[in-house]
Amino acid sequence: MTFLFNSDARRGAVFAKAFLQALPDLPFSMDASTVNPDKVRYLITWTVPSDLERYRNLEILFSIGAGVDQFRIDAVPAHVQVVRMVEDGIVRMMQEYVVMSVLSLHRQLPAYLAQQKAQIWQSLPQMQAQDRRIGVLGFGQLGQAVLERLKPFGFPLSGWSRSPRLIEGVTCHHGEKGLADLLASSDILICLLPLTPETRGFLNADLFACLPEGASLVHVGRGPQLDESALLAALDAGHLAGAVIDVTDPEPLPAGHAFWSHPKIMLTPHVASVTQPETAARAVIDNILRHRAGLPPIGLVDRSRGY
Ligand code: NAP
Ligand code: GLV
Repeated sequence: MTFLFNSDARRGAVFAKAFLQALPDLPFSMDASTVNPDKVRYLITWTVPSDLERYRNLEILFSIGAGVDQFRIDAVPAHVQVVRMVEDGIVRMMQEYVVMSVLSLHRQLPAYLAQQKAQIWQSLPQMQAQDRRIGVLGFGQLGQAVLERLKPFGFPLSGWSRSPRLIEGVTCHHGEKGLADLLASSDILICLLPLTPETRGFLNADLFACLPEGASLVHVGRGPQLDESALLAALDAGHLAGAVIDVTDPEPLPAGHAFWSHPKIMLTPHVASVTQPETAARAVIDNILRHRAGLPPIGLVDRSRGY
């Protein structure tokens, strides 16, 4: 039985050390070319290797990241469990990024940075937190964590999921009917949906039209969820006031793309959350222990939903 690590060597070294301590009976390999493929029971990777079928005895395919949209899940044999990364480092970084984005938009940082460039010393009218409503699309692991972190600021908070939720201090919406209510009451909309056939192109002109005049977007889901032309049109028409964009399609964003220089867009290169090897290794080890105990792994992907 072997654990095969197929990602960067720096993170691999941290994993190797943690595995040696916690699971000394499980051989750990970072080299697909020398491993005996028949012995590989667990594989962690960002994309599914093209020769996946050589691992005939594979039991769990772990994603090194929180998303699994980069996997072609239908190409993974049905008996293999697909598990996304659920680890504290990703959660903490996403909380930091979303709080940074919400506060930047709320306190009009882009406008003040533009004023600084133009050497203008002038205060702008400022809305108070209790009047700035925050809505989160995707009320899962990360959506719930960022809402929790936003609570102390006093923004009215809402979340939207597929199935009903009940979270204290957050107005919970779900399903198609709940979406309209969430959008109508989101001055800052945060996208933390997984990329699936239903969420591809989800942030489009129709959705932007349902947001209040002057609303802003924080997009930390996946690039293909956003209709970029629709966002630019809504910003240029003044319907939307600003956007923080961490994910694009394609990545990297091509040179000359309008997002690079748009005065109402703050852009980062898909860095909102990055898997932290120490906490990720612990999460994967815990999942292997659960698997050995006959329990389902944390973060098990439901193939029918695609996340
Ligand atoms: P998760 O725990 O699986 O939560 C997903 C949430 O989205 C759930 O609340 C789910 O509803 C909801 N949802 C999915 N499809 C829906 C639909 N069609 N209609 C309504 N709600 C829907 O995932 P997570 O760990 O929070 O991660 C979310 C995503 O964040 C990842 O898939 C990834 O794409 C992105 N991400 C980005 C970065 C970055 O650096 N930018 C880093 C990490 C993750 P239910 O609760 O009803 O299932
Ligand atoms: C990053 O985007 C991840 O899915 O972890």
